[in-house]
Amino acid sequence: MPAQSLAEGGAAGGPEISIIVPCYNEVANVAPLVGMLESIMAGRRWEVIFVDDNSPDGTTGAVCAQAARKAYVRGICRIGRRGLSTAVIEGVLSSSAQIVAVMDGDLQHDESRLIALIDAVASGDCEVAVGSRHVEGGSNAGLANAWRHALSDSGIWLAQRFLPVSLTDPMSGFFALRRETFVAIAPRLSGTGFKILLDLLLSAEKPLSVREIDCGFRPRVAGESKLDALVMLQFAALLLEKTSRGLVPLRFVAFCIVGLAGVGANLGVMHLVRLCGVHFSTAQAIGTVAAMVVNFSLDNNFTYRDRRLRGQSCVWGLLLFMLVCSVGALADVGVAHLMYAQSYRVNEASLAGAVLAVVWNYAMSSTIIWRT
Ligand code: GDD
Ligand code: MN
Repeated sequence: MPAQSLAEGGAAGGPEISIIVPCYNEVANVAPLVGMLESIMAGRRWEVIFVDDNSPDGTTGAVCAQAARKAYVRGICRIGRRGLSTAVIEGVLSSSAQIVAVMDGDLQHDESRLIALIDAVASGDCEVAVGSRHVEGGSNAGLANAWRHALSDSGIWLAQRFLPVSLTDPMSGFFALRRETFVAIAPRLSGTGFKILLDLLLSAEKPLSVREIDCGFRPRVAGESKLDALVMLQFAALLLEKTSRGLVPLRFVAFCIVGLAGVGANLGVMHLVRLCGVHFSTAQAIGTVAAMVVNFSLDNNFTYRDRRLRGQSCVWGLLLFMLVCSVGALADVGVAHLMYAQSYRVNEASLAGAVLAVVWNYAMSSTIIWRT
């Protein structure tokens, strides 16, 4: 793509292409990646934006060392935040280039395919160009083991059930699109987990036109993958949130998971207390209070992390939470009792009561305890 063809979009003299690189604990990969991009992007107006979450290994310093010497290297350091998708969103929003490309910072993506991705978008061939490991010429050799292959394949299979477009590699984190396309969708993005491409495709008002470009996926040489059980859970939650059109918000999913942990805490504490010779009813009451405290602290640190209560408002929040949950429990028992009396089955009556209590607790928590 000749540099002039993009000139009208970027700021005068500014970069026409921003390469957004989310990175966490990638200290050894920063300088090699910049070197690779320099040779691939030579002759173009480009920049690379590293978005680092204050990595403890010194990635921030490595980015600063590059940025201090090279105008085309920029960095964003987020403090107290984590997340691949939100890192990409903030990187893109900080760019003024016409085209943005997203790639990993661990050298696993084959940077030599960047030009093909950028050109596919610049030529108007498609709205999003996706680096795919599963079209002819692509390769997935870099996945660490059979377990990672199985995970990746099932993730792809699952994502394809929900996608409005046909893609062999919707899990890819290597893609390019016009910044304005991204920005138009940005307010609807969920931003959860690792799958920002999937998030984009599921959040667009009209299906985006996509083109896949074959690409390789190399083994990681330095550093470690950050994919863990929480990231997998976030993937499931993203699909649920997007396919229910926001009806089942991510926060509600988190609230239910925390609720299950509370049930576990209730049982555990109740048994412990009983071991000390306390009567069942008293033990159950103590277990219930323990569950509320556990739920409150998990919700405060996880479900409502962005609205976290601290200090004195945390104490008031806990008291209010206990009150709300007690009302929820009364409603649970009341509704279950009414339904049972109207000859519903035991399980149906009990489930209806529990669902009512969860929805009530969630609604109250979101509006009066952790309000915006
Ligand atoms: N800022 C930031 N914050 N960056 C992160 C975080 C985070 O919390 N978690 C991961 N990253 C960065 C990593 O440092 C790396 O540069 C990139 O995101 C990918 O993370 P990996 O931990 O290496 O993920 P992976 O190899 O399992 O999977 C990646 O490759 C897949 C195949 O293309 C992901 O990018 C997937 O999205 C992608 O599909
Ligand atoms: Mn990786």
